Amino acid sequence: MQLALPSLSFPHRPPLRYFGGKWRMAPWLLKQYPLHRNYVTPYGGGWCESFQKTRAGGVEVYNDLNHSTVNFFTQLRDHPDILIPAIEATERNRAEFIRSRKPAENLIEQARRYYIYCHLSVMGGGGPLWSGTSADRLEVKAIKDDSHLWTASERLQGVRIEQQDALECIAKYDDSKTLFYCDPTYPKQSLASGNRTWYLHHMPDEHHRKLAALLSRIEGAAVVSGYDCPLYQEIFAGWKRVERRTTNMQRKQALECIWIKEARHARTKH
Ligand SMILES: C[S@@+](CC[C@H](N)C(=O)[O-])C[C@H]1O[C@@H](n2cnc3c(N)ncnc32)[C@H](O)[C@@H]1O
Repeated sequence: MQLALPSLSFPHRPPLRYFGGKWRMAPWLLKQYPLHRNYVTPYGGGWCESFQKTRAGGVEVYNDLNHSTVNFFTQLRDHPDILIPAIEATERNRAEFIRSRKPAENLIEQARRYYIYCHLSVMGGGGPLWSGTSADRLEVKAIKDDSHLWTASERLQGVRIEQQDALECIAKYDDSKTLFYCDPTYPKQSLASGNRTWYLHHMPDEHHRKLAALLSRIEGAAVVSGYDCPLYQEIFAGWKRVERRTTNMQRKQALECIWIKEARHARTKH
C-alpha cells in the first residue's frame, strides 16, 4: 500500500534565521488576517510568517530597506539553481563564517554569504551589527540541511521584491482588496533592553506615528504586529486588538499583540 504523504506547500523551517522573525507565531497570526486579494508586507524581514501563508490570488509584495535581505530573496527567487547548490557546497565552519561577513564580488555570491552569516551568527540576519558566532552554534549547524530553500524559492515565484521605505510601499499599493501585514521594528519603549536598537534599519517613534496615521487613511486592510506599550496604545487606539502571551528576546513574559483594521468597504458595511 502506498501512503499518501502530506504535500508541503511551504518550507519546513524559515529560509533565513531572522531577528524578530514570526515563524512560531505564524499559525496564530495568519488566522487573524482579514480577507484580501493582494498581500503586501512593507517590513518584510525574513518573511517568516508569509512563507507559511497560502498565495494571495492577486499581487504579492515583499518589501524591506535591508539590502542584504532583499538581495537574498531576489537571488533565491531568480537563480535557485545556482544559489542553492552553492550554499549546499559550503562547509559550516569558522573560516566560512568569517568569509560570510566580507563584501562579495557579485549578487549571487553576496546572497550565499548572507545565508551563511544568518545561519551561523548568534543573532541571525536583520540585526544592526555583524554579530559573532559560537562553538556551540558551529557544532549544531555543521549538519547541513538546506532542502527547504527549494520550496522557499518556489513560494517566491511571482512575488514582487522591492527595497523602499515602508510608508512609500503602503502608499504605492493601497487598494480596497489589499492586506498590509506590517511587522515594524519594535518601538524603543517596548524593548526591555531600554534604548538599545537591534536592527540595521530602526524606526524612531516618529515613524511609528506616521505609519499609524497612514494606515488609518488607507482603503485596504492592515494587521500590525508589536508588543504592548504606551505608544502603540495611543496610536492604535480604536483598532481591534488581539493578544497572546509569549516570551520576548530576553526570555521574559511579554504580551505580543496585533492590531487589526478591516478594508474601508468592509468597515462601511457594518
Ligand atoms: C521585525 S522585522 C520583520 C520580521 C518579519 N516579519 C519576519 O517574520 O521575518 C522588521 C523589518 O523592518 C525593516 N525595516 C525597518 N525600518 C524600515 C522602513 N522604514 N521601511 C522598510 N523596512 C524597514 C527591517 O530591516 C526589518 O527587516
